[in-house]
Amino acid sequence: MDFRMKIVIEYFPFFMQGMLKTIGMSLAGVLIGCILGLFIALGKMSPLFILRLPFVWYINFFRGTPLLVQLFLIHFAVMPLIMSPVNPIASVIVTLSLNSAAYVAEIFRAGIQSIDKGQAEAAHSLGMNKLQVMWYIILPQAFKRMIPPLGNEFIVLLKDSSLGAIIAAPELLYWGRAATGQYYRVWEPYLTVALIYFILTLSLTYLLNYLERRLATK
Ligand code: ARG
Repeated sequence: MDFRMKIVIEYFPFFMQGMLKTIGMSLAGVLIGCILGLFIALGKMSPLFILRLPFVWYINFFRGTPLLVQLFLIHFAVMPLIMSPVNPIASVIVTLSLNSAAYVAEIFRAGIQSIDKGQAEAAHSLGMNKLQVMWYIILPQAFKRMIPPLGNEFIVLLKDSSLGAIIAAPELLYWGRAATGQYYRVWEPYLTVALIYFILTLSLTYLLNYLERRLATK
């Protein structure tokens, strides 16, 4: 098998541009997902059954249907109601954010509920109100436990943002497909794209391991 390095070199600037879009879209996805996810988690922990219901079903829907189907629904059905022409990057960011919010909500809920009840009771007995207990006692401890799964979420989004190639969002895989289309070659573009994704996720994994060790509870 001959490996035509020329193709890789020619497309390298495009792969780099695509990589930046991939990172940007995934980062936007987790960040917006975290904000939405916090509200959904709090909603799901409401003591009122009727209040919990919409949040529970939001999570069920986004975890229970394929991300690709969600992307098609949002790109072809929802986004045209808001903008025209639809920007595929916007569609990917919206889809990743909404999807991620469902997963992040569960990460937050699990993190908050993993803190021993005694902590809240002790804080209450010192005269703190509910909000202060949440903010000063529960969240700082829960946050440490949330870092590994949140990092994991970012890695998942980084890889799943590649679905954007199907709706022509110019991210990393999109450029791999473009090179394949131009040269009818598959090894060079797709191996390069795979390697770039691999370097990104591997660096993130190491960074997360480091953070986890730094924040480890003694
Ligand atoms: N691959 C999954 C699917 O097709 C999407 C997983 C999304 N996961 C996440 N943690 N945001 O449905």
